[in-house]
Amino acid sequence: MRTILYTGKGGVGKTTVSAATALRAAQKGHRTLVMSTDMAHSLADSLGTPLGSEPTQVAENLWGQEINVLDDIRKYWGEVQGYLAGLLITRGFDDVIADELAVLPGMEELCSLMHLNEKSKQGLYDVIICDMAPTAESMRLLSLPDIIDWYVNKVMTLSKTAGGMLQPILRTAMILPEGTVIGAIQDLLSKIDGLKEQLLDPQQSSIRLVLNPEKMVIKEAQRAYTYLNLFGYNVDLVVSNRILPLALEGSFFHRWREQQNRYREEVTSAFAPVPIYEVPLMEQEIVGLEMLGRVADAIFGDKDPADILHSGAAQRIYKQDGAFCFEMQLPFVDKTAFNLLKKGDELIVEVGNIRRDIVLPRALAHLEPAGATLDNGKLTVKFPANA
Ligand SMILES: Nc1ncnc2c1ncn2[C@@H]1O[C@H](COP(=O)(O)OP(=O)(O)O)[C@@H](O)[C@H]1O
Ligand SMILES: [Mg+2]
Repeated sequence: MRTILYTGKGGVGKTTVSAATALRAAQKGHRTLVMSTDMAHSLADSLGTPLGSEPTQVAENLWGQEINVLDDIRKYWGEVQGYLAGLLITRGFDDVIADELAVLPGMEELCSLMHLNEKSKQGLYDVIICDMAPTAESMRLLSLPDIIDWYVNKVMTLSKTAGGMLQPILRTAMILPEGTVIGAIQDLLSKIDGLKEQLLDPQQSSIRLVLNPEKMVIKEAQRAYTYLNLFGYNVDLVVSNRILPLALEGSFFHRWREQQNRYREEVTSAFAPVPIYEVPLMEQEIVGLEMLGRVADAIFGDKDPADILHSGAAQRIYKQDGAFCFEMQLPFVDKTAFNLLKKGDELIVEVGNIRRDIVLPRALAHLEPAGATLDNGKLTVKFPANA
């Protein structure tokens, strides 16, 4: 089974590209489910068919689903929410506000993960495509499995083992929930069991970035790309949407196209060697299977969208002798002379006529690089931690 997740800035075309990918996967003979985990659903509009919170068949081999997060939170989090709200009310919070606050940040994302896991385990589908919320929420979703692992290991074992003697004290301090609440949390967490391994396995899962050739959009996608690499997810495709067709005449469009051409080069320097597939701006908005088929042709041609289109982490960060090392693949480069430039949180690497533009993660953004080596197509930049 393959899981493909699409993310990117709001409005760039995530839903359209997800739906087009799902349609083409279904046409290639894969039993395909496309699910939207963005609270602002537009998947049904895109497919041109009403959808529910459980899969609805849309075409041969194709099902669609729009997750209702608010229902889910009530269903799975109800008990815990009741407990937390009660706690807040005893601390003087107003009922309604307490209820609102008792939905922890990340709950929406957690519910999306639960659905994804449930549908993966059912074995009814060969491919699951996930039309995700805009980048920030998606990053939170994709970092959740790690955070939850930590939580389960630390808090849950503490509540079980340190139980005996400490429990009465902890309970009066209102740190530890009651047994039934712990049960509810464990039950909830068991619903995403195994999902982390599945999402991190490049054979099973791919993350794909959708963007438009525009400054802010590219920057946001770059940042997401850096974090995805950091978490260890496999990004196997960048879809660059709304490319102006050459047929447009006149100086107005000429200017726009020149600007796009510059940004298309930036996209290459930010994401190569991950493949970048372009989609032209169509003459109208994309609604219904026929239009989606045209988008699928533009993106994939004859290719099977369920294939792994690229693998191998392009970036890695590790600590060695007190310094952070940023390592990136530059497979087509054999020159040893290169240029390194740091501009704010960006690191620009130039080797011959190749240029790479990397958005550094927070841990490195404030550090100055001290030396770099290029060896076997691998560039390593050192950032002394206390420079
Ligand atoms: N290549 C394109 N050409 C024309 N219209 C497009 C194209 N890509 C997306 N659209 C339209 O832009 C709007 C936003 O796209 P959507 O896929 O909903 O973005 P997102 O899910 O990222 O918010 C939709 O109305 C869609 O039909
Ligand atoms: Mg959308």
